[in-house]
Amino acid sequence: MKPIGVFDSGIGGLTVVRALRELLPNENIFYLGDTARVPYGNKSAGTVERYSLELARVLMAEDAKLIVVACNTVSSVAIPKLRAEVSIPVIGVIEPGAHAAIAMTRNRHVGVIGTRATIRSGAYENALRALNVHVRVTSVACPLLVPLIEEGLLNDKLTDLTIERYLNPMAADGIDTLVLGCTHYPLLTSAIARSLGDKIQIVDSAMNCARAVKDLLDRQSLATTSTSAGKLDVALSDAADHFLSIARDALQLQVGEVQLRAVS
Ligand code: DGL
Repeated sequence: MKPIGVFDSGIGGLTVVRALRELLPNENIFYLGDTARVPYGNKSAGTVERYSLELARVLMAEDAKLIVVACNTVSSVAIPKLRAEVSIPVIGVIEPGAHAAIAMTRNRHVGVIGTRATIRSGAYENALRALNVHVRVTSVACPLLVPLIEEGLLNDKLTDLTIERYLNPMAADGIDTLVLGCTHYPLLTSAIARSLGDKIQIVDSAMNCARAVKDLLDRQSLATTSTSAGKLDVALSDAADHFLSIARDALQLQVGEVQLRAVS
């Protein structure tokens, strides 16, 4: 039973793991979080590319049958390189999120939030425009959100104020759909929804990414035939203080023993 390999810079990719567990409960998953080097979002494209190749190699050594890049930053800048270097399928989060946003928007004005590297890359803008040339995209980098989430400040006044500071101008600008272009952000969905009100819809790319994984497994006949519950293995490149409590409390994920892996 080869696992689905999933990686992110930290805990964000667990939002994708939760969606995968819901949709594909019999699949084994091996999750790798690069907690030694999080955040990726403020780093250059070259560095993110290098780190992601190192993580992909660990997943290959775990005999993964495909790699899910559960990180928008890596998906924005490193997918072509990863696909060129590894021999198994690689799925990112950008295309699935863009598809969902285009299906949802009514006024064709979509907001995108993400890390600096994701927004700088223009990956969402390109993916959204490739689907609909008339769509207007307003993008804002939110570099303070990942550290707040990694610190476990999911329900905190400081986080609420930060969200308002980033999102108020977009809301005033008239977006009707907001893409959470970072896998950490679904952990703040209720705080973000509170700040936006009910006129703006939120696209969380985690579930859309999980659907893309299911399609790929079916298309390439890679889906497991097992009918028993799949297992979830988690490895981190450094200890993470809040990792387990966030996984358990905010995401209701049962994570057993966390392995430590040196990544280089
Ligand atoms: N969760 C990641 C993303 O989707 C990266 C956050 C970071 O490491 O800065 O972009």
